[in-house]
Amino acid sequence: MVRRGRTVCDVGTDHAYLPSYLILNGISPRAVAGDIGEGPLKNAEKSVKIYGVEENVKLRLSDGLDNIGEDEADEIIICGMGGNLIADILSRAEWLRNPDKHIIAQPMSHAEDVRRFLCENGFEIEEERVCEDDGRLYLALSAYYTGEKKEYSPGFYYRGLLLKNGDALSKKYFEKHYTRVKKRIAGIEGKDAFLEEYTALKAAADDIEKEFENAES
Ligand SMILES: C[S@@+](CC[C@H](N)C(=O)[O-])C[C@H]1O[C@@H](n2cnc3c(N)ncnc32)[C@H](O)[C@@H]1O
Repeated sequence: MVRRGRTVCDVGTDHAYLPSYLILNGISPRAVAGDIGEGPLKNAEKSVKIYGVEENVKLRLSDGLDNIGEDEADEIIICGMGGNLIADILSRAEWLRNPDKHIIAQPMSHAEDVRRFLCENGFEIEEERVCEDDGRLYLALSAYYTGEKKEYSPGFYYRGLLLKNGDALSKKYFEKHYTRVKKRIAGIEGKDAFLEEYTALKAAADDIEKEFENAES
């Protein structure tokens, strides 16, 4: 998903494998590899030496994008974190509200939180892709700022572009996560303490079911 020839910021880089790969393969000219932890940054330091990309990859201690300058990166990549944390990191960087910036996120859970943040804040999801590695499914999505706030139905945050994609892995990923939602609905049904969550999840599931019915008819 990374546009060729653009500068990159890898948020939560850990071993800096991603920026090293992008430089070594001529995809990106420069990258900032950020992490909140000193330990991961030490890992990153070792990698950039081993791969001989110290000149191209700047290492930065940073909580999210807090210490990353707007002019340092066009491609903002956040991989391997929960959807809620990704949404929080995106929400704190006002400078992402710029159509030239390209966001790429790979949530390990709760992708709906990322989709909701993006859609409610004027970003448009451009693409979603699912891949399988060692029996696990991974979702990556990319988005741009448009400034337009469109109306999305409640089910959208749970299905995103996965069903439109039409490939087997997207379908498999959707079904796995939709099953989780349906189990949760069944688990909290009738419990007063979870009424708000129940109402929101039920609206999303009803919306998805309606879409299935429409597709069949
Ligand atoms: C599971 S690793 C993912 C590493 C790599 N991005 C990947 O996908 O393979 C998560 C990394 O994110 C870092 N991290 C967690 N919260 C962060 C934050 N708020 N800002 C920057 N980095 C963060 C952790 O220190 C850790 O190195």
